Amino acid sequence: MNPKRYLLIALIFLAIIMIGFSTLRNKFSGNPVTISGITVPPIPALDPAQIEVGKSAYAQNCASCHGANLEGQPNWKQTGLDGKLPAPPQDSSGHSWHHADDVLLSIISNGGDPSYSAMPAFREILTEAEIIGVLDYIKSSWGQDEREYQWWLSMRDQYQ
Ligand code: HEC
Repeated sequence: MNPKRYLLIALIFLAIIMIGFSTLRNKFSGNPVTISGITVPPIPALDPAQIEVGKSAYAQNCASCHGANLEGQPNWKQTGLDGKLPAPPQDSSGHSWHHADDVLLSIISNGGDPSYSAMPAFREILTEAEIIGVLDYIKSSWGQDEREYQWWLSMRDQYQ
């Protein structure tokens, strides 16, 4: 084979290895997160004990609508016959990660507007620690990109 082709193949391999390393570094070294020119600190690790609290609170209070595996109700993007939206997934395939922490905590505590939303209010059913735990449990199912984006969204006002 032509030596130039060897060189080309070697360069392609090198490029793939370098891209691999930089992706790994971003995933595991807890780098600050920069989006749209705004940098926020690295994502703090979730507390496993809090996730456990949240997991059982989720199973008892949320799974009936949002699914035992956070998968949401079937056809969740289509308004039902009652004029209300079905329960969306809570994993990365849903859109909870499009909302900052304060918005999510408020939705879980206060529920949706009953005239068009079937999301109940949990402020009198769950303790604050359980509500935070449920959110941590939900976050623990998200991919790295969704976690970073939602963390950035929650923090950006303090850093711009
Ligand atoms: C009776 C069914 C029901 C139960 C039980 C329920 N939800 Fe919901 N939830 C919904 C529906 C329906 C929506 C969508 C409402 C809307 O868009 O107006 C929703 C929306 C949400 C959202 C906003 C999602 C988004 O992307 O905007 C979050 C977060 C959420 N629920 C969390 C929870 C948690 C946590 C629990 C348990 C503590 C829970 N829900 C229990 C029906 C339910």
